[in-house]
Amino acid sequence: MKLFIGASEECDRKAALEIVNQIKEKPDSVIGLATGSTPVGMYQNLIRMNHAGEVSFFRVKTFNLDEYVGIPRAHPCSYYYFMQENLFRDIDIPADAVSLPNGNAPDLEEECRSYEEKIAESGGIDLQVLGIGHNGHIGFNEPNTPFDSVTHVVDLTESTIQANSRFFDSIDQVPRQALSMGIKTIMHARKILLIVKGADKADIIYKALRGPVTPEVPASILQLHPNVSVYVDNAAGVKL
Ligand code: F6R
Repeated sequence: MKLFIGASEECDRKAALEIVNQIKEKPDSVIGLATGSTPVGMYQNLIRMNHAGEVSFFRVKTFNLDEYVGIPRAHPCSYYYFMQENLFRDIDIPADAVSLPNGNAPDLEEECRSYEEKIAESGGIDLQVLGIGHNGHIGFNEPNTPFDSVTHVVDLTESTIQANSRFFDSIDQVPRQALSMGIKTIMHARKILLIVKGADKADIIYKALRGPVTPEVPASILQLHPNVSVYVDNAAGVKL
């Protein structure tokens, strides 16, 4: 595991460079993406480098980790909307090269199966971007999700609903379910890029990286992945 602790902007820049280098090495890379506040600065770096001609996403395919169940794609809180706003509309990626699980599919179980299949048919994920939740979740894999889980329907925990309510007008509007890649799906990625920011993540990143590997802390499984880079800002890295 490669661990970098430094200024938040340095984390954004270095993490973006890892993605750019991946794409330079393999222009048709398959990249797994995350939403949330953590990767926004990194996405801004990718947009800047794309505009500067330093990287092209024209042959890249992307798969997002997760999506809420039951809110329309056009809703400002959908992860589809988030990705359009924070990355896709500003880079040269073709519209049909981006995938998110469809939280409005008539059969959610079938949607999960076909998402998993689509990832496999694309050749598998070359590089997966992750953030971490306060309870150690990755994607929407909450504590005690089996390590062998693949893309599945998730009942969100109270703590995740609370944390995500900051993006909604009220907590009642936060969906109670989501679709998420499983822990096994994530671990199958050939490379993983975990970004962690803020003093409120200091305890959980310490547990995830230095504590036992346990389903109680889903991100702790990353200790067993052979190719992980972790970018932690100074505030989150105080215990490491
Ligand atoms: C987002 C995702 C989540 C977030 C995590 C951290 O697609 O799957 O696991 O990465 O909840 O969220 P932020 O970055 O908002 O602290």
